[in-house]
Amino acid sequence: MRLKSVRTIRTLKNKRVLLRTDFNVPLEGGTIALEGDERILRTLPTIRYLLRRGALVIVATHLGRPGGRVVPRYRLKPLAAYLGRQLKAPVQALSKVVGPEVAAAVRRAAAGTVLMLENLRFNPGEEENSATFSRTLAELCDVYVNDAFGNAHRAHASMVGVPRYRKSYAGLLLAEEVRVLSGLLARPRRPMVAVIGGVKLSTKLAVIQTFLKLANDLLLGGNLANTVLKARGLAVGRSPVEEGLLPSLRRLKLTAAKLHLPVDVITASGTTAGLPTRTLAVANVQPDEYILDVGPDTVRLFDAVLRDARTIVWNGPMGKFELPAFAAGTIGLVHAIAHTRARVVVGGGETVAAVRRYLPKPVSAYPNVYLSTGGGAMLKFLEHGTLPALRPLLQAK
Ligand code: 3PG
Repeated sequence: MRLKSVRTIRTLKNKRVLLRTDFNVPLEGGTIALEGDERILRTLPTIRYLLRRGALVIVATHLGRPGGRVVPRYRLKPLAAYLGRQLKAPVQALSKVVGPEVAAAVRRAAAGTVLMLENLRFNPGEEENSATFSRTLAELCDVYVNDAFGNAHRAHASMVGVPRYRKSYAGLLLAEEVRVLSGLLARPRRPMVAVIGGVKLSTKLAVIQTFLKLANDLLLGGNLANTVLKARGLAVGRSPVEEGLLPSLRRLKLTAAKLHLPVDVITASGTTAGLPTRTLAVANVQPDEYILDVGPDTVRLFDAVLRDARTIVWNGPMGKFELPAFAAGTIGLVHAIAHTRARVVVGGGETVAAVRRYLPKPVSAYPNVYLSTGGGAMLKFLEHGTLPALRPLLQAK
């Protein structure tokens, strides 16, 4: 897949660039959660590229799911301040998404500076992919650059609508993500091992099916594995199960030798911190227990599979790792990755945060490890080999 790169824009001097980013990061009371800033940090090269060439950069992003109205906790001011600190330059946060004040602020702004529009999803036109909203956004700029790989599976106005009205290019991050993930699909070094964890099986079932074909081994953990264990006839206590998926799961090759499920688990009688935990074989889970992490035997089993891998794809933690009592499974996998020489691609906000937190050294010390800023987008790309927002950025054949 060949994308039109921002690098091919002949001149950026005095050009107004609408830069679509995905700054949908975990924000609590105006502060970004620890290791939750990956998406912002990874967009800095594109922003710096544009600024150095004399463009006015109008950053446009969404945050959360405010549903087309203003929700104060999803205002972007803290993110603009954070971005400004990273760039060591002021970023002017606008309090509106579009409208006369925004148009005036863009007219007044000098080349070589950064503005940030208010949360795109405060406007219902964003998710509806409204032509009017797309045109209004397009009118703010001369050129459109998309660096929002994490949102490229969403056919929203700022992703697929604006390119109808302006010349459109891929930012440096988006182009890198597409290059890495396309390479993974086209030429995986084998054995290829996929690790899928996280909470909801329904959002990952399609990619699990893809990996049952594509990968040599597939390791499942996290809460989603409980639904698969149940489909295999095991009792999972009070762990949440997506009952509606059970019939379709029974049609999947759950007994395939390449599919590895937890053999032991860590449980508690509730899902909060401080409760006593038990480590037990997966067949011994009691009716009043929640499965909250994979157990040590599972970590050893998964580690052994990962040790032989030459390509590893990982999306989704192995347990409720935000509570230290249920972090060992996820940490065990991060340590397995620290010792592998395989090409490793990790995606999903929580998984990326865990990898950054628990690798013994900074990620830059592991050139074989690539952190994708896509969660859902990465999974959809691996499933379909493309995404809706990439189409307007393709080079003409
Ligand atoms: C993501 O975090 O996956 C993207 O920003 C898309 O967000 P959404 O799932 O709320 O559409």
